[in-house]
Amino acid sequence: MKRDYLRVSDFNRDEFNMLLKRAIDLKSGIDFTKCPLIGKSIGMIFEKPSTRTRVSFEVAIYQLGGHPIYLNPKELQLSRGETIKDTAQVMSRYVNGVVVRTFSHKTLEEFAKWATVPVINALTDDHHPCQAMADMMTILEKKGRLHGIKIAYVGDGNNVANSLIEASALTETKIHIATPHGCEPLKEVVENAKKFTEVKIYHDPFETVIDADVIYTDVWLSMGEEDNTEKKNKFKGFQVNSNLLKRAKPDAIVMHCLPAHRGEEITDEVLDGPQSVVLEQAENRLYTEKALLEFLLSL
Ligand code: CP
Ligand code: NVA
Repeated sequence: MKRDYLRVSDFNRDEFNMLLKRAIDLKSGIDFTKCPLIGKSIGMIFEKPSTRTRVSFEVAIYQLGGHPIYLNPKELQLSRGETIKDTAQVMSRYVNGVVVRTFSHKTLEEFAKWATVPVINALTDDHHPCQAMADMMTILEKKGRLHGIKIAYVGDGNNVANSLIEASALTETKIHIATPHGCEPLKEVVENAKKFTEVKIYHDPFETVIDADVIYTDVWLSMGEEDNTEKKNKFKGFQVNSNLLKRAKPDAIVMHCLPAHRGEEITDEVLDGPQSVVLEQAENRLYTEKALLEFLLSL
């Protein structure tokens, strides 16, 4: 039976934590000669731009012995009205897995429903589960544990926030969110995560970051929302800057999935400062994706 990774909660706690551990081992060079994807091809359909996700997946697939096929949907028959159902069924006859970045999460679910090979979410409007895996790996590396760590997420309750909340539930990391009214993460995600860990929603960043071990932020306007100035205006006072950082623990780390809008959700000083771990966070995408591919393609 094929397994997909459309959202973090597709994995149970043991699976998610095992993958984090495996990613750390892969980074340290353990089993680096193993090529579980030899002779296998992975399709990569990207309907939105990408630097980290695209490059890290292509490199991960190559390093595992496989063959990545990057596909721009504008050049597929999808652009001429071929259905997702037909595309997913046909592609499954050629490739061993598909990585998809698209807008609506429902589109991804439809693709996964008809694909007979594993489907991996490379970002939708609602979830970014590959990012959350690299985020948790980075926190584990930097703090030595996840259980009981406090993450303060300051910003939009978007795809990145939803996945971080689901990952917090699987790792028992506490997550406090500071977001303007109307920009809260998905209710369904929050309510479910509350069964497993501490999830709190605030509207004041200063209150949220007190005693935080991790301060996390993301853009105020995600891909596809760039013209929504009304939404952007709600974020006044939500910038991650040195003044806000002072309220967190002195050894707090600063995270951002990137790309950043410097000077908006985060200042240069903080993003480039000594507490920032954003480059290692980006690097860890490679190792978590390797662990993920190895797991899903060996089932
Ligand atoms: N963080 C992230 O997913 O970056 P890209 O949009 O560059 O892939
Ligand atoms: N929330 C951002 C994340 C980009 C990696 C977006 O969806 O544009």
